[in-house]
Amino acid sequence: MTDWISAPAGPLRGELRVPGDKSISHRAIMLAALAAGTTRIKGFLEGEDTIATARAFAGMGVRIEALQSSERIVHGVGLYGLHEPDAAVDCGNAGTGLRLLAGLLAGQQFDSTLTGDESLSRRPMRRVIDPLARMGAKIYAREGGLPPLQICGKRTLCGIDYALPVASAQVKSAILLAGLYARGETFVHEPHPTRDYTERMLSAFGWPMEFGAGWAKLSGGHRMRATDIVVPADFSSAAFFLVAATVVPDSELLLRDVGVNPRRTGLLHVLRAMGADIRATNARESGGEPVADLIVRHAPLHGIDVPIEHVADMIDEFPILFIAAAAAQGSTRVLGAAELRVKESDRIAVMAQGLRALGIDVAETPDGAVIEGGELTRAEVDSAGDHRCAMSFAVAGVIARGPVRIRDCANVATSFPGFVELANTCGFGLDLA
Ligand code: S3P
Repeated sequence: MTDWISAPAGPLRGELRVPGDKSISHRAIMLAALAAGTTRIKGFLEGEDTIATARAFAGMGVRIEALQSSERIVHGVGLYGLHEPDAAVDCGNAGTGLRLLAGLLAGQQFDSTLTGDESLSRRPMRRVIDPLARMGAKIYAREGGLPPLQICGKRTLCGIDYALPVASAQVKSAILLAGLYARGETFVHEPHPTRDYTERMLSAFGWPMEFGAGWAKLSGGHRMRATDIVVPADFSSAAFFLVAATVVPDSELLLRDVGVNPRRTGLLHVLRAMGADIRATNARESGGEPVADLIVRHAPLHGIDVPIEHVADMIDEFPILFIAAAAAQGSTRVLGAAELRVKESDRIAVMAQGLRALGIDVAETPDGAVIEGGELTRAEVDSAGDHRCAMSFAVAGVIARGPVRIRDCANVATSFPGFVELANTCGFGLDLA
């Protein structure tokens, strides 16, 4: 078990580039594997989640070279070139890996099994199994719709017109990937727009796609051609530093090359509404994605009611928003975020419990929480093996009145390898316990 100690620190200063985007890295491996030709991926996230996805495709006969760190050269095998894997495909901690693979494998000519770690084995899969079954897939899950998933091959898939009951880019993407193998048209509608990386990247690989905010449409029977991919720095990883520099007096950080796709940057709007001083400079396009450098300076925060329209655009940022809310004056109210209960952990419960240990008043609701800002004390908190909760508590330690011990931090390597070292270069006082 890896525990951390995060000690109070002075101003945070410097320039950093956080690792590559996790969502884009997963998709880059998957689509490159199914394309004809060789794809070079730059800025690939060397995290356990995305490495598990690369390993899954290597196990299905795709040659993937890692000549240097954060780069992959993928020798695509074409839409019908994957081989049956020898063993169950282990997706580790990655919901994105498992759910997208469920869609993609539903259209293959071979059977396969998808497994994951303890956390992933507790996450709901009916949300992908049901629409895929309506397309003609046959997928068996453990009782309650939990992994492992057994996917039967040699099925004839048909396109569907499907309205997602929950806003989920993973579910949308699973359906679209199955749609590549389906007869006819697949049309997906979302209750709120979610990240559109699958749609953008399918287009970049030459698949005819139509999509807009909250919908996407494609038909089966086309081909993908290799294309080079540049992965921006992950906004969700940058978020810990945006909040840390905001709450520690006299701080100023420059975060380079951050992906600022509007479907990911809900936290920017919310932090600014709370009083944060964050400026985007050098805005540009890189690899078809909007990218900018973000300059963040210390600023006092006040609590707000988080507007519900930003929830889907900041779905991974609630653990760190809870820390910003604890450091703010007044109360912050979160509503409409029930999805947080089925992430890598129950993030509402884990963050509420940790914040209470840190001396903060938190009232939990089924779909959110009300957090009263206050002074954070020294404490011992449990991240419950959730990478984003662990890094959020590390930020709490920087502003607490004494050191914070954080239990169960090993999973930070799933999304942010090197977090401790990078955080310490800009002034955190983080150490292994
Ligand atoms: C992701 C979608 C989101 C997000 C996850 C990555 C993706 O999950 O929380 O970290 O890459 O598509 P949901 O689709 O469950 O909302």
